[in-house]
Amino acid sequence: MPITVKKQFSKDFTLQEPINDQGIEKALAILKSGKLHRYNVEQNEKGETALLEEEFAAYMGKKYCLSCASCGSAMYLALKSAGVKPGDKVLCNAYTLAPVPGAIENSGADIELVEIIDDYTIDLDDLEAKASEAKWFMLSHMRGHITNMDRIMEVCNANDLVLIEDCAHTMGATWDGKKSGSFGKVGCFSTQTYKHMNSGEGGLLVTDDPDLIARAIIYSGSYMLYKRHTSRPDMDAFETLKTMVPNYSCRMDNLRAAILRPQLEVLDVRCGRWNQRYRQLEQGLIKIRGISCPKRDPRENYVGSSIQFSLIGQDEVTIKQFLSRCMNQGVELKWFGNKEPVGFTSSYSSWKYFGRLPNLVNTRRILAAMCDMRIPLTFNEADCKLIIEIIKDVAQIVLK
Ligand SMILES: Cc1ncc(COP(=O)(O)O)c(C=O)c1O
Repeated sequence: MPITVKKQFSKDFTLQEPINDQGIEKALAILKSGKLHRYNVEQNEKGETALLEEEFAAYMGKKYCLSCASCGSAMYLALKSAGVKPGDKVLCNAYTLAPVPGAIENSGADIELVEIIDDYTIDLDDLEAKASEAKWFMLSHMRGHITNMDRIMEVCNANDLVLIEDCAHTMGATWDGKKSGSFGKVGCFSTQTYKHMNSGEGGLLVTDDPDLIARAIIYSGSYMLYKRHTSRPDMDAFETLKTMVPNYSCRMDNLRAAILRPQLEVLDVRCGRWNQRYRQLEQGLIKIRGISCPKRDPRENYVGSSIQFSLIGQDEVTIKQFLSRCMNQGVELKWFGNKEPVGFTSSYSSWKYFGRLPNLVNTRRILAAMCDMRIPLTFNEADCKLIIEIIKDVAQIVLK
């Protein structure tokens, strides 16, 4: 009998590329100046944070941008600034991550979860059925899966639904040529380490609405220094709000902004590099018996910084064996079907703080089969090839 040596992958699935040299130089300059706070600037000087806001608004084709402490805080400020009141109902796709329901709960609103379909995007028919019951809609482009935005806008317009986009996983992505995050009244982005720009923690909010951005700026903790924002409407917009909107202290600082600005310059190039890796992995995975990847709409120009696939028709024991064998060979996969929330793969059944949890039959079935893998840019073509080989070997042994 020939002895087969098990293949082993040894790279770290959480290792991002280092901050680029320009970012490090800018960060050092900020550190040497000691002026880390965004409002610690000279008269008429634009700080790094204000410049980042101008540049990200221009990148997005939006009038205004606000930098925040995180995407979670940006979503919270977006909801509050749009006018969400305690007890209001916010629609949200049930496949998303904990900071999204967290932001909704933080605003005092109630959540109405919407089913997903087999390609992991929101169920537009279920959305349509629930649309007349709510005024607000938080659409999370979870793991970068963008639904048919033309239909989303039709449903929103027909039902006076205010759309807020969670673009934590779609920075740099487009639907039919239009940037993700520019469809809704407001778009929210993350710059946390595992996202498309990395400042450790951080968030960005974009909108064209002068009242919304004025409120968000004051909520974010501008004290009476909102004049130092340069991505803002005229000062009149703040006059009636300045004593009516509280300070929630969700600011970004100049150090993070300094690290992010040079990353924005190369964002589109990096998105292309993610997609090369994604397509290689997808092409390999779809050929493996028992594994299915979602079919993606040609209008969806996604950013493949992670990949999801389903183990169709496999029971829990088999899926757990599959995951643990992959892990033993160094391929770290997450699973959305866990009964208990593990790591980042929370499922909606763990948001018990909302009280009642609906039984979303399709979402449960889809999550029960769904695996998730990060694709850091530190992985090269040979790494992706080895990952496919390992998953294939394991699938042949384990999957039914
Ligand atoms: C889908 C989704 N939305 C929002 C967030 C919140 O981002 P942040 O960590 O910047 O608050 C995350 C974080 O991972 C996320 O995965």
